[in-house]
Amino acid sequence: MKILKNYKELSSTVADIVKRQLKKQPLSKLVLPTGDTPLGMYDELVKRKLDWSHTITYNLDEYIMNPDHPCSYHSYMRKNLFDRTNIYPDHCHFPYRPTLSFEDKINANRGIDLCILGIGSNGHIAFNEPGSSFKSRTRVVDLSLQTIQDNSRFFGSAEDVPKQAITMGLGTIMESKKIVLMANGDHKLQILERAMYDGVTEDIPASILQRHNNVEVYYCD
Ligand code: F6R
Repeated sequence: MKILKNYKELSSTVADIVKRQLKKQPLSKLVLPTGDTPLGMYDELVKRKLDWSHTITYNLDEYIMNPDHPCSYHSYMRKNLFDRTNIYPDHCHFPYRPTLSFEDKINANRGIDLCILGIGSNGHIAFNEPGSSFKSRTRVVDLSLQTIQDNSRFFGSAEDVPKQAITMGLGTIMESKKIVLMANGDHKLQILERAMYDGVTEDIPASILQRHNNVEVYYCD
């Protein structure tokens, strides 16, 4: 785990990793997160004026809701990255039903080169909540009360947060060639340390990353 000076350094460090990936292999397949943590990284990526015309993206998750709703992850990605680059909209994928055909699409495009993750305050990655099977694939999940509470800041109130989502599974994420996890803020430090240094357990989904052979973790407080 690398501790960085501040949020700016966290954002530019991870943006540089994405930049190197796209330069090395324009036809890269990336998995991307939403939430507060990656916002600075998306700004940095836009500043780098990269050529996204050959890149394929998959988002980690999406609420079960109208994708045109302003709080959907489709809207978030359009606003923060897709509409600010030359990526082709039909190269940008979100988990959908039937979930197995989403997985088929990943496989047909020959897997995932680089997966960027955040971590939830309960140790979730994507919307794989505590207790998710390490073998899980893309599926519909119920959000935990903790996640509904945490994400109410985007919706105004907990009642307005969708109670279900579609998420890439832990098994799916672990098949990525490289994984980068970014975390920002003191409130994430304790769960991050448990995930990285304590036992590997389905109670802390992010702890599965200890079993991946090409993972980098970046934190700033
Ligand atoms: C979102 C996602 C989630 C977030 C996590 C942290 O696509 O996969 O696992 O990464 O909930 O969210 P923030 O960055 O808002 O603290």
